[in-house]
Amino acid sequence: MVKICCIGAGYVGGPTMAVIALKCPDVEVVVVDISEARIAGWNSDRLPIYEPGLDDVVKRCRGRNLFFSTDVERYVGEADVVFVSVNTPTKTRGLGAGKAADLTYWESAARMIADVSRSDKIVVEKSTVPVKTAEAIEKILAHNGRGVRYQILSNPEFLAEGTAVRDLFAPDRVLIGGRETPEGQAAVKVLKDVYARWVPEDRIITTNLWSAELSKLAANAFLAQRISSVNAISALCEATGADVTEVACSIGKDSRIGPRFLSASVGFGGSCFQKDILNLVYICECYGLPEVADYWRQVIGINDYQKSRFVNRVVSSMFNTVAGKKVAVLGFAFKKDTGDTRETPAIDVCRGLLGDKAVVSIYDPQVTEEQVRRDLAMNKFDWDHPRHLQPVGEPADQPVAVTSDAYEAAHDAHAVCILTEWEEFRNLDYRRMYDLMQKPAFVFDGRNIVDPEKLRDIGFIVYAIGKPLDQWLKDMPAVAS
Ligand code: UDX
Ligand code: ADP
Repeated sequence: MVKICCIGAGYVGGPTMAVIALKCPDVEVVVVDISEARIAGWNSDRLPIYEPGLDDVVKRCRGRNLFFSTDVERYVGEADVVFVSVNTPTKTRGLGAGKAADLTYWESAARMIADVSRSDKIVVEKSTVPVKTAEAIEKILAHNGRGVRYQILSNPEFLAEGTAVRDLFAPDRVLIGGRETPEGQAAVKVLKDVYARWVPEDRIITTNLWSAELSKLAANAFLAQRISSVNAISALCEATGADVTEVACSIGKDSRIGPRFLSASVGFGGSCFQKDILNLVYICECYGLPEVADYWRQVIGINDYQKSRFVNRVVSSMFNTVAGKKVAVLGFAFKKDTGDTRETPAIDVCRGLLGDKAVVSIYDPQVTEEQVRRDLAMNKFDWDHPRHLQPVGEPADQPVAVTSDAYEAAHDAHAVCILTEWEEFRNLDYRRMYDLMQKPAFVFDGRNIVDPEKLRDIGFIVYAIGKPLDQWLKDMPAVAS
């Protein structure tokens, strides 16, 4: 019987281990973390992350073969397979600042594994890391091994938040990279046998270590690139009178392109896309491939452009000033069905509006006021440190209110900005919203979830990403800064 321990009880480690425990009742799975609050959350009725279906999975196996603990050293020491799923922030100083991954947490996890291990172990990279991290980890372990032998595997996680449980139950693929030695291949087989309990064999791909590490970065870069591509087209649609939804639908019918991941938006967010592309850019630069680095950097460039274009639309439409005007922001999470706000476009949009002296009133069904304030006060890249090491926001700093429903946010507002595609925002009583608001009343839909015509009939001036513009907006063109 294999014993598994996962270091890092975050968005990846928690759900992944819960599903492994569910599908392999004879395998003991312990998730460990240095954060006492996080572990307490996993052991409570209110899990530390919101993920549809996760409560049920955790309830079914917690205490049976799934355990959450802060006793990191004990459970790492006892395990045969150690997954590492810790933070990998972007460096903010020194060599590669603003691009390269800061592997401090990874390195300290590796050194701790070496310190406490008395038996041979398979160490599995689960957090996204730069290509060749496995090699670095191998070196740390080999030099501190004291007779214990390690095999390093790369098993990147492809789950998307909001659908994590579904993705883990039926993954498009499971990728396992290992050394091409007999010992490496034996380790690959151990992990493959775990996944094979519920994943069809033809969906379990085995590769060498470097291919697995690079595949994760490349997959996220390709996905982000699709969004930046459709977002670039959305700007052209607004300029020409084309409709980005129609264009996306038409191109998505081409089976070589496919229909998914073509929704124009205010910009992509989340903990992976930007960070992984920056990593890719940095690696390309290190290997003397500046043209390739520039190519991928531009995916982030368009994403930043899309966010500032949105803010500029809001400001320019409202007579070039939002100073002292209340703007309601609906949605703060980086996408629906999650409370996660890491790299959410809402942060940049709110900062842009606050920079123009707007009074911002925010509502999100899953994001707490404390989180909003923390995010708005945080420096770029600070979010990717363990929670207890993050700076805390100063509540008095900014004219920001966080409300408990959309109508309260819209009360007396001049404009509503929809920044997350929560289902409940589709079904709001927009007539009631209109009556509550100052006139002219604006809706800026950053997710294309409302019907612009219906809202115009009510009396709103409506901007929707990549859709034909109202005469009002044509008369007040936004200039991207
Ligand atoms: C992503 C990858 O999908 C996943 O495979 C990887 O393991 C982690 O990174 P995640 O960040 O959870 O997952 O969310 P995803 O669904 O990919 O969305 C990322 C961002 O892109 C969100 O802000 C989302 O709103 C945005 N998006 C997505 C669009 O703007 N348009 C789209 O068509 C799709
Ligand atoms: P992800 O989205 O990749 O899962 P998270 O930030 O949600 O990332 O989770 C990473 C977790 O790893 C955090 O809960 C953090 O406290 C934990 N962590 C970081 N370093 C260590 C360590 N050395 N030992 C144990 N846990 C760690």
